[in-house]
Amino acid sequence: MSLDIVVLAAGQGKRMYSSLPKVLHKVAGRPMLAHVLETARALSPGRIIVVHGHGGDEVRSAFAAMNVTWVEQTEQLGTGHALMQALPSVKPRDDVLVLYGDVPLIRAETLQALIEARDSGLAILTAEPADPGGYGRIVRDAQGRVVRIVEEKDASPEQRALREVNVGFLIAQAARLAGWLASVKNSNAQREYYLTDVVQCAVAEGIKVATRQPKDVWETWGVNSRHELALVERAYQNAAAKRLLEAGVTLADLWRVDVRGDLRCGREVSIDVNCVFEGKVTLGDRVHIGPNCVLRNVSIGPDTEIHAFSHIEEAQIGGRCRVGPYARLRPGASLAEDVHVGNFVEVKASRIGAHSKANHLSYIGDAEVGSGVNIGAGTITCNYDGAAKHRTVIGDECFVGSDTTLVAPVTLARGSYIGAGSTISEDTPADQLTVARARQVTVRGWKPPRKK
Ligand code: UD1
Ligand code: MG
Repeated sequence: MSLDIVVLAAGQGKRMYSSLPKVLHKVAGRPMLAHVLETARALSPGRIIVVHGHGGDEVRSAFAAMNVTWVEQTEQLGTGHALMQALPSVKPRDDVLVLYGDVPLIRAETLQALIEARDSGLAILTAEPADPGGYGRIVRDAQGRVVRIVEEKDASPEQRALREVNVGFLIAQAARLAGWLASVKNSNAQREYYLTDVVQCAVAEGIKVATRQPKDVWETWGVNSRHELALVERAYQNAAAKRLLEAGVTLADLWRVDVRGDLRCGREVSIDVNCVFEGKVTLGDRVHIGPNCVLRNVSIGPDTEIHAFSHIEEAQIGGRCRVGPYARLRPGASLAEDVHVGNFVEVKASRIGAHSKANHLSYIGDAEVGSGVNIGAGTITCNYDGAAKHRTVIGDECFVGSDTTLVAPVTLARGSYIGAGSTISEDTPADQLTVARARQVTVRGWKPPRKK
């Protein structure tokens, strides 16, 4: 006997007003269904079955790399009907845990507790949200035993006043679920086959329905509208911020940080407001990130400061560097120790050696920059000839005067000193001054033109 997980994800998501299938809408930068599947996988089930419908091809291709079984529900006749489509894919003796593709924040620990309650025959996850509106209500008898779940649209005013709601997740043996679902009718307000009706079936067989609750109520929040999507996003981000604070990270404002991936921080890291972290980001000890920075797949060494409004993607930054404000590091940028990259400097596919500086208004692309190099304001590596990219090599201890264009492929030997305003299209010799600009002339006796 093993555990299989069925994820219901065939609903249309009408209230999203979107051509994108609902479960592909993103929370923390990833489709909602990706969060659910990741949590499902953490439970090591035998099989994961996803019931899809609306936009099925798009959903399937978004998860083509994942080992899941796809089952189509061609008509959305209700949650009970949806589960029925999946049951032929599981062994009758297996336990089936039902999840929803649009409830993305559920934690594995919570589901583990539900799984442990399965011996009762049927276990359901319930919660007491501040506003129970829209949920099915849990009806209990005088002894506190679960009797049934009543959907809000079918509920009496007294039932609507009940605070305990059905999250929608349950676990029972496949054969039992199939038996119960066979007797479920759609004679209700929505003309749907309700999965929740299995509770009455189980109770009629004398089964004591077990209930478990999540640690945090936001784990159970579902997404039916953009508003709910935004609330779920904030709940996710607030939990991420809390984890960072608990690990010793300083956040200027816990409500203004967005982690859309995996952010690892060393000791004494501080993060100012409105920063976005995407993919895998690693910040070394005492790193400071200024306000309004975007970092995607970046690793940063200790004691480095990233100043405001910097945009850094697929880059590696050593220790004790100073980046920004307004710096842009693009894929393949690699800074050694103690490098300064200042305002309006763009670096792409380039290595910059230790103690080198490019402090203002430059483009460094496809370059190899040595150590102790000074790159003056307005320097540009002309790396593209319209067809191919070419490399620029700048040796250690070079001084590149302001407003220099380096026409690649070109190499500046160690200690080259380039006069400001030069256009360098040939290799330069070591430790010499090279100037490549028109000489300055002064025209003696020149008079400005005058209007007649
Ligand atoms: C359902 C529950 C309700 C619970 C609420 C929690 C039922 C009858 N009601 O109501 O008790 O409080 O969830 O959010 O189960 N789906 C399909 N095929 C269908 C219909 C739905 O795959 O034919 C999927 C949806 O994609 C979604 C999930 O099932 O992931 C829930 O469906 P939804 O229509 O949102 O159910 P609710 O009316 O919210
Ligand atoms: Mg719903």
